[in-house]
Amino acid sequence: MKIKNEIQQAITEMGFVNLTPIQEQTIPLLLMGKDVIGNSHTGTGKTAAFGIPLLEMIDFTSNEIQALIITPTRELSVQIKAELTNISKYINGARIVNVYGGEIITRQFAELRKKPQIIIGTPGRIIDHLKRKTMNFSNIKYLVLDEADEMLKMGFIEDIETIFEYTPENRQTLMFSATMPKRIVDLAQKYLINPELVTSVGEEKTNQDISQYYYKVKKENKTEAIYRLLNIYRPNLALIFCNTKLQVDKVTEELIGRKINCDKIHGDLPQTTRLDVLNKFHNGVIEVLVATDVAARGLDIKHVEAVFNYDVPEKAEYYIHRIGRTGRIGNIGYSFTLVSKGEVRKIDEIERLTNTKIKKRSIPTYEKVIDVKNSKFIEEIKDIINNESLEKEYQVLNQMVAENLKEDEIIAALLKKLNALETNHNNIEDINESFNTENTSINKKDWVRFHLNVGKDLSLTVSDVLDFVTSNVKMNGKEIQDIAILSAFSFFSVDKKYATAIMSNCKNKKLKGKKVILSVSKKGRR
Ligand code: CDP
Ligand code: MG
Repeated sequence: MKIKNEIQQAITEMGFVNLTPIQEQTIPLLLMGKDVIGNSHTGTGKTAAFGIPLLEMIDFTSNEIQALIITPTRELSVQIKAELTNISKYINGARIVNVYGGEIITRQFAELRKKPQIIIGTPGRIIDHLKRKTMNFSNIKYLVLDEADEMLKMGFIEDIETIFEYTPENRQTLMFSATMPKRIVDLAQKYLINPELVTSVGEEKTNQDISQYYYKVKKENKTEAIYRLLNIYRPNLALIFCNTKLQVDKVTEELIGRKINCDKIHGDLPQTTRLDVLNKFHNGVIEVLVATDVAARGLDIKHVEAVFNYDVPEKAEYYIHRIGRTGRIGNIGYSFTLVSKGEVRKIDEIERLTNTKIKKRSIPTYEKVIDVKNSKFIEEIKDIINNESLEKEYQVLNQMVAENLKEDEIIAALLKKLNALETNHNNIEDINESFNTENTSINKKDWVRFHLNVGKDLSLTVSDVLDFVTSNVKMNGKEIQDIAILSAFSFFSVDKKYATAIMSNCKNKKLKGKKVILSVSKKGRR
């Protein structure tokens, strides 16, 4: 396969070491002039699969529009333009213009006057320009429908057929689609000539580099679940999908309330805002993006390491697109689906459609989240001690010591002031649900959970906790439950009636050589 040096050099610089399977199959066919239907998983490099041959074949000394790429959303148009601009950066005279709704049309007139060879845009605005005769498609050689299934679903079929009419019949036509419903096949039959079907979709319809989990959790605990998972997995960037715009607004607000660095994108937001938010997400200024299905369709954002399905998608097929935003080209990714009572059935449907097993997992406990947060905090402290100058801090410290404050007291007070270990939670319960069992939490209402300031780092074991409590309070070891030993502290639960005795009898005693501090972690179940 011969590709000109200008393109070769650009894609090498972009880090394309090997072509992906869909690219390997598609590029030669396109160079031979074939019509192609491309069907592969998301994130397999379909943009370059059509982009490279287009850029190879277009005559860039000409001032005519030779290629048209139609996409369902403005964001996708912008993204494809960016990718093609990168690939064509060493080609002289390459001009690529976006036309999409939501932007003042006169600005696009100016762009079009620069005589682009490639137009990328959304159906409605393209037709607008055609009717105003500000764009002429009579020399179009290549027509690409990207995310064709999505465009049909959005009701763009008539618009697309109108656009086809403005283009010469001897054009080369390409369709890319992550799924192949009948409507796509029909469209291809009508408008493509002896198309080659290129497919790299195997038995499974989803990328095998993505670990897929689901969690049973009540609707009202879903934000809490996401909060915990974000803290445990710490993805570089994460996308959260909701089924409705309203839900996107709500979840974003709740997460911001928990100091998660996040923003949102959906169809009701002005276009400039959407592009701005996307840019920030690309650059990592925003780490969590909450989105609706349509707004995030086809987007290629590096380092999205986790996709959350806040709601199980209405259509099983959407699941494929959602989780396809992670695990792109050789990267690993996670998908976490939160399932409330009415949604269990849809998981089966998704498993059937994708031919993949989604594993059931439990939402990490509140204690685990704290433990991870604390370890991270300790790591950060170590890092500061090792790598930063603390001169000014020592001045203040010396002043405090001079006033007879003890060092450990100073540290504890500072931590309090720092609020570093604050988790701003009000829900610290076990939020895993089982839906089908009714009586699992029998009479646990009157239990009290204690927090103990000794943990694994002092080799504390479960029996140490049992011995310690039963030697100080007259009670049976069996009455102490749910003992959790974490690195720097631990938890245990007892019947409320023992709470006062434990508080007074255990206080100030030593355990593993350390003065014991007990506090009630929470009341209620567990
Ligand atoms: O359209 P599709 O979901 O198949 O994927 P895409 O949006 O084209 O994204 C593919 C990503 O992988 C882009 O960021 C490319 O720059 C990158 N890539 C590629 O397309 N081809 C390679 N051989 C290597 C990386
Ligand atoms: Mg794509």
